[in-house]
Amino acid sequence: MCAKQVKKPGEVGTTGHEWDGIQEFDNPMPRWWLWTFYLTIIWAIGYSIYYPAWPMISRATQGIVGTESAGDTRLAVSDEIKRYDEANAPIKAKLTAADLNAIAADPELGPYAKSAGSAVFKTWCAQCHGAGAAGNVGFPNLLDDDWLWGGDMESIHTTITHGIRNTDDADARYSQMPAFGTDGLLDATQIGDVVEYVLQLSGQEHDATRAAAGATVFTDNCTACHMEDGTGDRAQGAPNLTDAVWLFGGDRAALTETVTKARFGVMPNWNTRLTEDEIRAVAVYVHSLGGGE
Ligand code: HEC
Ligand code: HEC
Repeated sequence: MCAKQVKKPGEVGTTGHEWDGIQEFDNPMPRWWLWTFYLTIIWAIGYSIYYPAWPMISRATQGIVGTESAGDTRLAVSDEIKRYDEANAPIKAKLTAADLNAIAADPELGPYAKSAGSAVFKTWCAQCHGAGAAGNVGFPNLLDDDWLWGGDMESIHTTITHGIRNTDDADARYSQMPAFGTDGLLDATQIGDVVEYVLQLSGQEHDATRAAAGATVFTDNCTACHMEDGTGDRAQGAPNLTDAVWLFGGDRAALTETVTKARFGVMPNWNTRLTEDEIRAVAVYVHSLGGGE
């Protein structure tokens, strides 16, 4: 077999390529390699006859097995979802009609709402509030007893339905702390003083002299929302400043930034994205997490 013979330089032709005196010989491919290559071609032809393969103008070729992979699987999945939805329709209707405060204790609705709510939470809420709902800077912890807008079922349900400070829902919860520094309402000394006062309010290390001056600044500028004693106002979503729970941070630097520029936490409204039974389910779930009132 001529291909097997090892040819000496000069017996094999060259490809005509030459670099710095190094020539490229035109040796044949090894047989096993060539045959494997031919086999893969034969396999590919068989495969594309059997299975859906080549993209055409509106859909791919169907293949003799007749499955239209992408399209058909999607159909099958949506059929499945439809079947589940139909099976769950009665309990969803019951959930939507039930008294909000009676859901959790209901032997049928309670467990359903918690598990459906947990699934909704993982899909729609975890990216901001964390998978375990423990929150993050700017995104409140939903596990604790500290509520910006209220922790009873009605309040949680309203917060989720309409969202907070979004522009899509006219009923969204809304309030706006002034940017005391950026808008020139307070100068740097006054901001420094009131920050010392907030540190004092929350039981942290502070400068007593500056805090005393800050108390006046606080009375004049902050009590309308955060109340005389600094415990906040849920009607305005103004946080309690006396506890150790901070939405945006409680150290000197974070407080200075909050008072200087203010914050504007936004949560989308869910009434256009979730159905009422889903909103109720996730409200029950959030309420059940430990901080519900
Ligand atoms: C895009 C981010 C984002 C997503 C997604 C999101 N939230 Fe929020 N949520 C926020 C922010 C920000 C706040 C706090 C707003 C503020 O500063 O008052 C908040 C506040 C809340 C509050 C009020 C907490 C309190 O202390 O009163 C509840 C309850 C809540 N979210 C539940 C949910 C649920 C349930 C979902 C999922 C359906 C969800 N959130 C999805 C950003 C988000
Ligand atoms: C018009 C109402 C209003 C006034 C006046 C106001 N605040 Fe606020 N404050 C809020 C609201 C609402 C928030 C929450 C903002 C958010 O969640 O986006 C907030 C948040 C804060 C926070 C962040 C708390 C946290 O948990 O991270 C601090 C600190 C604070 N305010 C201090 C002050 C001080 C000091 C003043 C006075 C100089 C003041 N606020 C005046 C409404 C107000």
